[in-house]
Amino acid sequence: MIYFAGGCFWGTEHFFSGVDGVVSAVSGYAQGSPEFDGRPSYEQVYTDTTGFAETVRVCYRPERISLETLADLYFSIIDPLSLNRQGHDEGTRYRTGIYYSDPADLPVLQGVYSVVEARIGQPLVVELEPLRNFFEAEERHQLYLDKNPDGYCHLPARVFKYLRLYQDVAALLGDEPDPVARMAETAALIYERMRFFWVGFYVVRDALSNGSGLGRELVLGPFQGPPACLRIAYGRGVCGNAWKEARTVVVPDVEAFPGHIACSSLSRSEIVVPVFASTAPTCPSAAGKGPVSDPRGADCTGIARPKPIAVLDIDSTSLATFDSTDALWLEKICRLI
Ligand code: SME
Repeated sequence: MIYFAGGCFWGTEHFFSGVDGVVSAVSGYAQGSPEFDGRPSYEQVYTDTTGFAETVRVCYRPERISLETLADLYFSIIDPLSLNRQGHDEGTRYRTGIYYSDPADLPVLQGVYSVVEARIGQPLVVELEPLRNFFEAEERHQLYLDKNPDGYCHLPARVFKYLRLYQDVAALLGDEPDPVARMAETAALIYERMRFFWVGFYVVRDALSNGSGLGRELVLGPFQGPPACLRIAYGRGVCGNAWKEARTVVVPDVEAFPGHIACSSLSRSEIVVPVFASTAPTCPSAAGKGPVSDPRGADCTGIARPKPIAVLDIDSTSLATFDSTDALWLEKICRLI
């Protein structure tokens, strides 16, 4: 069991109920003040005077999903810098926290916590504490979004779609070693599930000419949708930019993006996500003491920034289709490649 407070428990519970390897997700109240004796009602917790946080008790099978993965998924549905507020919900009852009942969980949780903190570069306001108390919420709060599919949820509906997509990509790719097969399957799944106009990969390859000065350019890889441009130079277009900057680029309006390459006039907005190598390349060490591995995945030129090996490009026929939710989940999917 692990306990996640992630704002309104209706959404947090619905999310974890859909995670493969989770046996049950139960909405409840945790970390109430010692002065508060016994099980609180929703109305009491609502007063924000009981110390309780809306919390979901997640029971999982560790042989099917690790605590590390669960914690990583938790961080993908919260804003870890927002104190006592998630989405539109405000109050100490909506604070974020991970509460553990097994002390052996702490080092694993600390590990995930510090990775997220390092990535963001600011201290997180998420609590990480031993569980003090937990009481199941009233029946009407259990499976709330299953009972009320149009009910309020602070999480965007796309989060639940992306969770299923992410898990299905992971399951379908399995341990297939061929990167072309992995990219092809991923493009097809994203295209089919999310109904985007164009979904595909551009892969960093040797350039036909050395015009870019780099000797490398993006070459069209596995994709779904209408025919597209075959090659894109370093720093050119949205794709070339995401490659150069080694970060996700979200373009709400392609006409407003200088240098956008229009492969189709129907495309109105776009997101491009870099794909990084999972195994670090081996570089000869400067001291000549044999090969060293660069943990950042950088090449051997001493540039500290990780180098994309490909980019995932997605186009939409509507304006402003993509935001930080898409970026977060597509980055997770790209890590599966
Ligand atoms: N618009 C992209 C080119 C690729 S197509 O969208 C498939 C860009 O500006 O890089």
